[in-house]
Amino acid sequence: MKILVTGGAGFIGSAVVRLAVARGHEVVNLDALTYAACLENVAEVSSSNLYSFEQADIRDRARLDEIFGLHRPDVVMHLAAESHVDRSIDGPGDFILTNINGTYNMLEAARAYWLSAGKPAGFRFHHISTDEVFGSLGAEGQFTEDTSYDPRSPYSASKAASDHLVRAWHETYGLPVVLTNCSNNYGPFHFPEKLVPVVILNALAGKPIPVYGGGENVRDWLYVEDHADALLLVVEKGALGRSYNIGGENERRNIDLVKTICAILDKKRPKSVPYAEQITYVTDRPGHDARYAIDPSRIRDELGWRPSVTVEEGLEKTVQWYLDNEAWWKPLQARAGVGVRLGVKA
Ligand SMILES: NC(=O)c1ccc[n+]([C@@H]2O[C@H](COP(=O)([O-])OP(=O)(O)OC[C@H]3O[C@@H](n4cnc5c(N)ncnc54)[C@H](O)[C@@H]3O)[C@@H](O)[C@H]2O)c1
Repeated sequence: MKILVTGGAGFIGSAVVRLAVARGHEVVNLDALTYAACLENVAEVSSSNLYSFEQADIRDRARLDEIFGLHRPDVVMHLAAESHVDRSIDGPGDFILTNINGTYNMLEAARAYWLSAGKPAGFRFHHISTDEVFGSLGAEGQFTEDTSYDPRSPYSASKAASDHLVRAWHETYGLPVVLTNCSNNYGPFHFPEKLVPVVILNALAGKPIPVYGGGENVRDWLYVEDHADALLLVVEKGALGRSYNIGGENERRNIDLVKTICAILDKKRPKSVPYAEQITYVTDRPGHDARYAIDPSRIRDELGWRPSVTVEEGLEKTVQWYLDNEAWWKPLQARAGVGVRLGVKA
């Protein structure tokens, strides 16, 4: 299968690219290389003859047409997006342009190509989205695929809009689409502005480990390599027009997740004082959603998929990866906005 992956130099996209090539698929990685991108994420496959790279911006429709015409993909996996909630609070414009207008361009370029190719039966446009479109849960309940949309940040609103466009292109034009909405990912190659790497790297640097509010917010943690496996399954076996929620079956309060990481570091890189003593509570994020939880029954019952690791196992691997890969994360800490508190002024 020849897969056009957008955002393949980012965190999740690169995990998809690495796994797809390892499984013998041909991959075209389309990425604009924004601040969040890193081509080292795909270094292990970049010399494979199954892999090619196109630097392109999904806001540029003409360039997308050129890439579809040149590579003639069997399926599209669309992950390119602005993805950091805190940045969306300070500067929502890029989120509107990339996540909404960019997805519109991708849909139109895919539709034009699909029509010109004679509507090949196996063609799929797989849109990768987030559970944040469903809003915030109380102490009980889980998001199903039928939960009403209720996005509450500029990021989640832009992703919700893109999901609506994808469904509309299916209903109106018959474009063969599948959608997935996943929970919080973590794992190797996670850009050092997101919670898990911030905790690991601040702990190692002896800096305060920032926890927003009281750390009571609950997330369902999904190991990125499990997610990539689920995405490849959905693009191959998912039913047309259907969406699948992907979760890790690992709900944790942020503060408990942070303490677990500290305990792993205490074992792997011991020092005189426990790392948890560096935990510092900071002003909460404006509009911080209280709880996200995924009901994973559709993807489990219809496609037979379940996560392979618990969050404790996934965090062990992740912490070890950061200990072993300073040469990857160190230069990224110099990029604009990294290591700085963003998104506080609502
Ligand atoms: N990280 C998570 O926990 C999570 C959870 C749910 C859903 N998602 C979704 O998964 C997808 C990937 O997330 P991620 O964490 O890997 O993001 P990321 O920020 O690590 O990577 C995004 C990639 O998209 C590229 N990109 C951004 N704007 C672009 C543009 N205009 N044109 C072309 N490329 C562009 C960037 O260069 C980068 O390589 C996103 O759609 C995100 O909404 C992420």
